[in-house]
Amino acid sequence: MFQLHNKYPLLGKSKMNADVSRAYRLLRTKMNRVCQVNQKSFLITSVLKGEGKTMTAVNLGVAYALEGKRVVLVDANLTQPALHEVFSKSNRIGLSQILEQDHVLQSAIVETDIEHLMLLPAGKPMQHPSELLASKMMLDVIAQLKSSFDMILIDSSSAMKSTEPFILAGITDGVLLVVGTGKVKRHLLQQFKQHIEDVNGTIVGSVLNRATKSSWERSIMDHSQVIG
Ligand SMILES: Nc1ncnc2c1ncn2[C@@H]1O[C@H](COP(=O)(O)OP(=O)(O)OP(=O)(O)O)[C@@H](O)[C@H]1O
Ligand SMILES: [Mg+2]
Repeated sequence: MFQLHNKYPLLGKSKMNADVSRAYRLLRTKMNRVCQVNQKSFLITSVLKGEGKTMTAVNLGVAYALEGKRVVLVDANLTQPALHEVFSKSNRIGLSQILEQDHVLQSAIVETDIEHLMLLPAGKPMQHPSELLASKMMLDVIAQLKSSFDMILIDSSSAMKSTEPFILAGITDGVLLVVGTGKVKRHLLQQFKQHIEDVNGTIVGSVLNRATKSSWERSIMDHSQVIG
């Protein structure tokens, strides 16, 4: 039987709290509202490590798949891949081999147990993936995925200590910023926003993760002032 990775409860698959399920469906609705139909590739990133990028990417992917969209989750966190673990898949072949031109894209994409939801694992982990992610090959990968899927959700590393999210922000249609409640300082968010603008990236929205109702009410004003 399909065994969920217990760190990542999935929408519609486990005993996910009703408020949390509603929040992911609401995120999908809001994304649908703000994004144009030709915006298909989205980077999910955060300033700091562990703010909830993978959790958000996975559940937004499930939310879109439940809506009938053909979704591919791409693990572009090539230093610390996680998506294959969420779906109990192998990470032997994935994005890193495709970018090194050791493998073709089509056969690296695997099905998940969720209808309409596919996965491109990270593949062989590497310490310095920025050159590969900035290569023409990565542009080709995104273009090919766009021709086969309705929605491409790219999980990445955090922005504080790596350039990868900014590279990816420049070649995707939108950036979804995950903000762990109480974790990141305002000036770092402002820096992040500036760096995204510098690479002509577009922040389509932000997710306040692990929010309690009161923390959400407290931070929504501050946060929206920073992100705009
Ligand atoms: N909303 C949430 N409620 C409870 N636990 C959460 C939530 N979001 C994330 N977590 C937990 O916090 C940890 C970090 O989450 P996650 O792996 O999604 O973060 P990340 O930003 O992808 O981390 P990394 O920077 O290491 O890739 C995980 O153990 C996850 O299960
Ligand atoms: Mg992650």
